[in-house]
Amino acid sequence: MTGDTDNPLRALTLAQLRRRTSMKWRTYPEDVLPLWVAEMDVPLAGPVVRAVTEAMERGDTGYPSGTAYAEALAGFAGERWRWDGLAVERTAIVPDVMLGVVEMLKLVTGPGDPVIVNPPVYPPFYAFVTHLDRRVTEAPLGPDLRLDLAALEDVFRRCARGGGRAAYLLCSPHNPTGTVHTAGELTAVAALAERYGVRVVADEIHAPLVTPGVRFVPYLSVPGAERGLSLMSASKGWNLAGLKAALAVAGPGAAADLARMPEEVGHGPSHVGVLAHTAALRDGTAWLDALLAGLDDNRRLLTALLAERLPGVVHRAGEATFLAWLDCRALGLGDDPAETFLGRGRVAVNSGLPFGTGGAGHVRLNLGTAPEVIEEAVRRMAAVLS
Ligand SMILES: Cc1ncc(COP(=O)(O)O)c(C=O)c1O
Repeated sequence: MTGDTDNPLRALTLAQLRRRTSMKWRTYPEDVLPLWVAEMDVPLAGPVVRAVTEAMERGDTGYPSGTAYAEALAGFAGERWRWDGLAVERTAIVPDVMLGVVEMLKLVTGPGDPVIVNPPVYPPFYAFVTHLDRRVTEAPLGPDLRLDLAALEDVFRRCARGGGRAAYLLCSPHNPTGTVHTAGELTAVAALAERYGVRVVADEIHAPLVTPGVRFVPYLSVPGAERGLSLMSASKGWNLAGLKAALAVAGPGAAADLARMPEEVGHGPSHVGVLAHTAALRDGTAWLDALLAGLDDNRRLLTALLAERLPGVVHRAGEATFLAWLDCRALGLGDDPAETFLGRGRVAVNSGLPFGTGGAGHVRLNLGTAPEVIEEAVRRMAAVLS
């Protein structure tokens, strides 16, 4: 067991990790190094282990109850982001972030209505929106991988003219680029959304994972965002995807919308998940800080390794998430370099193709692992080219 101030990314060996039974470790054969799906190679934070273990000892495995998760998030938001506008009475527990997104979209749009996304973006944004019978409408990021406000305005305007009720599914910070949107950008988004009658649903699952010294700005904290909705969770920050629970948060002007969410949606999250997420947000900040320092080291390591061994790869290191978005178009590996890295290099990274427009020729690499694993992955990826 490591302490909560030791780098958790250095705590586990590959042999220990290969005993895991989750998607990251069971999708590919043992000779493949997995740096794909958004799971991290870390032991859990001590407070999370204690909360779950104590729940098991109590047999406390019933249905979720109470507002402790929201209170823990409000406390975390106040301390980390200097935001005291998260009102517990304007929150609701949802099963996970994507099901929360679906429920929020049901509240503010109807079948066939447009949902605007910024590709390249987390692929389930396409799958869930389509499954919900809404229409994905793209407003791609700019070449600097930041929000392109002019493109966004064009799409908002078109959606407003088209009738129906449009929503904007904002990814903040952005997966896969790690872009942290500034207060200025988010304020401009809020103004555009109000002007064109577009409702904003912000997926802020990566919010705790921001590089030391960089400020995450909650969408609901900017002026003009009162009618916004947000989804937050400890899932990515503390590696709790298997302990399902997330929070939907409404701005003051969206409280009535959130109140229309059917009560039974709140039966979906795991009670043990809620306990784990609450402990993470309330007592897991020392562990998180150690993780963030380790991720920062890994980001720098990747930049150095790419410059040395794969200089054809363009990597604009983001300031958040544990993901790296690599432009491999100069390598001559076609639209789907991930296929070659897997087949010939035995490294699993995500193909850029499902991330939408701008994804071809790109891969997403998961930095939430030990530095030695990153070194070996880049060595194998470079070997594919020789
Ligand atoms: C942007 C984004 N949203 C949502 C999710 C999934 O969250 P959940 O498992 O809570 O639905 C992920 C997972 O990687 C993600 O990156």
